[in-house]
Order: sequence, then C-alpha cells, then structure tokens
Amino acid sequence: MSAAKPRSDVPHLAVTDLVAGYVPDVPILRGASLRVDDGEIVAVLGPNGAGKSTLVKAVAGLVPARSGDILVHGASILGLATHKLVGTGVAYVPQVGNVFTRLSVEENLELGGLGGPPSRTRQRIAGMYALFPDLARFRRLAAGRLSGGQRQMVAVARALMAEPHLLMLDEPSAGLSPRMVELVFQKLLEIRAVGVSILLVEQNAKAALAICDRGYVLAEGRERFEGSGRDLLASPEIGALYLGATTRLAS
Ligand SMILES: Nc1ncnc2c1ncn2[C@@H]1O[C@H](COP(=O)(O)OP(=O)(O)O)[C@@H](O)[C@H]1O
Ligand SMILES: [Mg+2]
Repeated sequence: MSAAKPRSDVPHLAVTDLVAGYVPDVPILRGASLRVDDGEIVAVLGPNGAGKSTLVKAVAGLVPARSGDILVHGASILGLATHKLVGTGVAYVPQVGNVFTRLSVEENLELGGLGGPPSRTRQRIAGMYALFPDLARFRRLAAGRLSGGQRQMVAVARALMAEPHLLMLDEPSAGLSPRMVELVFQKLLEIRAVGVSILLVEQNAKAALAICDRGYVLAEGRERFEGSGRDLLASPEIGALYLGATTRLAS
C-alpha cells in the first residue's frame, strides 16, 4: 500500500468550473467544482443523468473539457492522455468493464502492476490478498465467475496495484446486496486509512454518506449542495432530491 502523503493546503484533486461534454456545444457538466483533500473520502451523489460519471470520466481524460480546470496537487491535468493518469497518482475504476472477466483474479492484479518491477508486483499482490482475503482464495478463478461484490473487489485491487494516491470509483455498489455494499465500503475505509484519498460516485446516497468525509450533490451538471456526510444525510432538500418531498435519508 502506498505511503501516506503529507497533508497540505493544496487539495489533492480540484475541479473548478468545469464545462465538459461528449459533443461540442452540448455541455453535460456546466461549471462543476469540487475538491478532494488528502486523506478524504468525498462522495458525489445526484439523480440519474446528473453528470456524475461524466465528471469522473472528465478527470480521467475520457471526456474533453471545454473550459475550467482539473488540478492534481495543484498541477493542471487538462488534456492529459488517459494512460498517463496513473503517473499522476490517480486511479479510476469505471462502473462497468472494470475487470478482465476471462483472466484469473491474479492475472487481473498482475496487469494492474504492469510497468513496475516484478518483485514489487509480487509484494503488492500479497498486500491485496491481505486486504481482500476472498481474492486469495479465488486467485486462480476467472474474474467473470466471481460474484458481483467479489468482482468489484478485484477491480479496486487492480486499481490499487498501481499505488495511486487518489482512487476514483464510479458506483462500486451498483447491483450489490446490502451486505456486500457494507463489505465493499468497509474496504474503502481501510484503503483511506493507509493514506489513499477516494472520490466515490454513488447512487446509493445513504451508504455513501455514511462513510464519506464530505459529499457533493450534483444536479444538471453542477454541484448543488456540499456538506459533511452527516449534514447531507439530515438535509430535507437532499431527501427530497432522492426520495420524494417528505422522506429524509436519515430515517
Ligand atoms: N457517451 C455519451 N455520449 C453522449 N451523451 C452521454 C454519454 N454518456 C452520458 N451521456 C449523457 O450525459 C448526461 C449525464 O450522464 P452521466 O454522467 O452518465 O450521469 P450520471 O452518472 O449522473 O447518471 C446524460 O444526459 C447522458 O445521457
Ligand atoms: Mg453514472
């Protein structure tokens, strides 16, 4: 696991007034801003179509930015090729297609460590098996044969192989049972504890707000609310946005 970075006044990730979209003149993000400080779990919530996935894809260089900026530890990464993202210490786990289903668990991890010295890769794999004991048991199994939750753990472990300082996850709880969501989110807390910051995009607002340090609610391509997990959970407006006018998330 990567060493904890010293805390500093410069945010780990800062997105400022970002305008981005898939085709020219159709902005999906319309001036979105957020920051992740060192050692934080920051949740990005919002209704379907709000632009959550587009936001992390823009940071990953998969959606072009039209204006605004994306800074990693104060340095702009605008225009950076996606394959160079990992060199900035940022890893991205997309919502779908995040494991090689026909390769074994171990082969998936090996691919995540590609580019580093083989001895380091072995060491990292051992570290991942310590963090995810299930994966050690299934190391020879094709990733496609695992349960959704276990597959999500493979995806996270594969991303961690590159020793990122910031992990971006797009809906890691999608399709998982509540018990599995709890397990995966527990792992995110363990990952934060070793110094990795996390940007967590989620539909499952309740579960995400329970583990995050801060959260943003995105609507129509902009952040509409920002607050601590506790404050957002208690906010009637947030409840309204997700669950209808009268129900709060903290019920
Ligand atoms: N590949 C794409 N090409 C064009 N439009 C897209 C594409 N992906 C998403 N969109 C549009 O961008 C908007 C935001 O989508 P998305 O970022 O996936 O939202 P969320 O992740 O919050 O549900 C939606 O209107 C969606 O239709
Ligand atoms: Mg999405």
